[in-house]
Amino acid sequence: RQIRVIGVPLDMGASRRGVDMGPSAMRVAGLEARLEALGHRVTDGGNIKVEVPETQAHGAENARYLKQIAEICTRTADAVLKTLEEGMTPLVLGGDHSIAAGSISGVSEFYRRRNQNIGVVWIDAHSDINTPETSPSGNVHGMPLAALLGLGPDLLGNIYGYAPKILPENTVLIGVRDIDAAERANIKRAGVGEVYTMRDIDERGMRTVIEEALRAAGRGTAGYHVSLDMDWIDPEDAPGVGTPVRGGATYREAHLAMEIIADHGRLLSFEMVEVNPVIDEHNRTADLAVELACSAFGKKIL
Ligand code: ARG
Ligand code: MN
Ligand code: MN
Ligand code: MN
Repeated sequence: RQIRVIGVPLDMGASRRGVDMGPSAMRVAGLEARLEALGHRVTDGGNIKVEVPETQAHGAENARYLKQIAEICTRTADAVLKTLEEGMTPLVLGGDHSIAAGSISGVSEFYRRRNQNIGVVWIDAHSDINTPETSPSGNVHGMPLAALLGLGPDLLGNIYGYAPKILPENTVLIGVRDIDAAERANIKRAGVGEVYTMRDIDERGMRTVIEEALRAAGRGTAGYHVSLDMDWIDPEDAPGVGTPVRGGATYREAHLAMEIIADHGRLLSFEMVEVNPVIDEHNRTADLAVELACSAFGKKIL
């Protein structure tokens, strides 16, 4: 493949600072060279312009920095759209998870112009399906999936002037284990097709879960975007994340999921978010993110 790296150094969507350094940490971990070693042609498109929060007013408490985040997401969407138009696969580096409202809008718009829908494989400890009305924190990184599914906030969901960007039946959640009460209701209200909790992975195994999930995301679509929040992985292996939650995927489970994604060959674009170098241990979470990207882009053990 031809892959273009797009960095989005944004941390306005989270209350803990530092995920703005995620793109740098993943580059330092050798992202480009390690993907090129697999035979891909990789170019770095640099970073999307992101203001520092110190220069910004945060606006309403129930969705802090929403206006700025929507602008940054629009720039991200444009960069992703352009990358696809040039025949390349976008590899987006966050940044907090609010950037997914931008990256996925870009993919959705590209395929909408070709009369096709896309699927989304959301791999995360969280469901990120709050709206400003239901959010307990006011952190926009807990809202991108709600925006993309058309529940709001509109500023984030209406990039390119249409909503929803994705259909609930082609949206799958994998690895969730920390969902707010109101998010449960939002999952129902949106009609999200398939939600696989950590319990499902424990009981049924990663292979079965990921195969089922990819089937749902891929049914009737051009393929799917994979949004990988690094807090999906157990904090033992991924300590450098903004909102760690115990009981996550193991090192091998994470790789297996990525390896199966590569086998299916229907990946339209990929993103990795929430890497926080400030609280990481010698960049190991960014290094693991790069390893997982390699597996998702076809690295084989043999
Ligand atoms: N549900 C919580 C909230 O809305 C946590 C969200 C965490 N999201 C994330 N992308 N790490 O604030
Ligand atoms: Mn290169
Ligand atoms: Mn997330
Ligand atoms: Mn998360």
